[in-house]
Amino acid sequence: MSKVHIGIIGSRFQAECVEASARMVPDEAEVVAVASPSPGHAEAFAWHYEIARAYADYRELLRDPAVEMIWVTTPNDLHARITIEAAEAGKHVVCEKPLCLTIEEADAMIDACKRAGVLLLYAEELFFAPKYVKAKQMADEGAFGRVHLVKQGEKHSGPHADWFWDVERSGGGALMDLGCHGIAFCWWFLGKPAVASVYAQLSTQVHGARTRGDDEAITIIEFEGGAIGVVENSWNRPGGMDDSIEVFGAKGQTYADMLMGNALPTYSEVGFGYAVEKASTTKGWTFPVFEEHWNYGFPQELRHFARCVRGRETPISDGETGRVVLEVLYAAYASAGLGRKVALPFRPRGIAKPIDLWRIPRLAADAQR
Ligand SMILES: NC(=O)c1ccc[n+]([C@@H]2O[C@H](COP(=O)([O-])OP(=O)(O)OC[C@H]3O[C@@H](n4cnc5c(N)ncnc54)[C@H](O)[C@@H]3O)[C@@H](O)[C@H]2O)c1
Repeated sequence: MSKVHIGIIGSRFQAECVEASARMVPDEAEVVAVASPSPGHAEAFAWHYEIARAYADYRELLRDPAVEMIWVTTPNDLHARITIEAAEAGKHVVCEKPLCLTIEEADAMIDACKRAGVLLLYAEELFFAPKYVKAKQMADEGAFGRVHLVKQGEKHSGPHADWFWDVERSGGGALMDLGCHGIAFCWWFLGKPAVASVYAQLSTQVHGARTRGDDEAITIIEFEGGAIGVVENSWNRPGGMDDSIEVFGAKGQTYADMLMGNALPTYSEVGFGYAVEKASTTKGWTFPVFEEHWNYGFPQELRHFARCVRGRETPISDGETGRVVLEVLYAAYASAGLGRKVALPFRPRGIAKPIDLWRIPRLAADAQR
């Protein structure tokens, strides 16, 4: 089976992750092009990673006949436009989380890819994280009896790029940025049941001078059948990224800490190169991770998507997955605006971005009518 040729749009944080992941599954895929409008960035990225072609305009990359699948690693507000144009150019699309800013965009992305006969794949690496996959395998075997509570938390000290803090571009704060993982995780873990209702408590505790976004978020998801998902997110947790789960059933439970739980408890008075994402220091006691991308599931996700393009596997994370997550995000922001839980289906139209339903509660009330 030939390698799938990938074009990455964007050339910074997540683009590096995609490139590193492709190198870990070299028989399945190869990055052959990269695009970024920042002067010199695409060229520097291509030179560094020995990628054949670099473009300043992503539309040129979309015209490149060597590219079969594009990977959208741009700020959230560009996901929809780039995905739709890529589909029209006949390319399969992997879109980073969150899928986009509005329900209308999600529908348009899914429709455009269907019409063009290309795949729309939603990059949710937690579906491939080895520790979390093992937890799900045990749950599916019945190890815990009926699972009634699943928790996922992702917390760090705040995003690395300015656009995340600008809700016009990101669509929301920590819930939008990190909560999309936990929502997807709980839903997937429980076997993708329908969501009955969502309740969220949001606040801006630390970063009010920098953003209108939430920097603390607790979301409770009630699924059909009665199981509960709890998603905890923060942009106020120094000391490096924290990603963990807890699973409870009548017959047992399991806990998995993806990063600190896979780390080397380390003490250094002089420091060293790198410990873990978002850690501000490597001096004193730290928790350096190894095989960081593999522990997250990024290369396994890329391998799965490449196999989907070759028709060897069926997508377990696609545009519909991204739309389910977006609907829960909308319901969560509306819940925080209204101060009560919100029942699904909840697909408000004409709202520019999820966080508006929290910051302007009247919109959330209107959306429920
Ligand atoms: N799966 C994950 O765990 C994960 C982790 C980080 C980021 N992400 C997602 O990936 C996306 C990118 O995040 P990031 O951290 O890499 O951001 P970043 O700011 O580090 O990189 C964004 C890139 O997009 C490029 N870009 C901006 N406008 C563009 C345009 N018009 N055309 C082409 N490129 C353009 C920028 O030049 C930059 O290279 C976001 O949607 C984010 O939520 C996912």
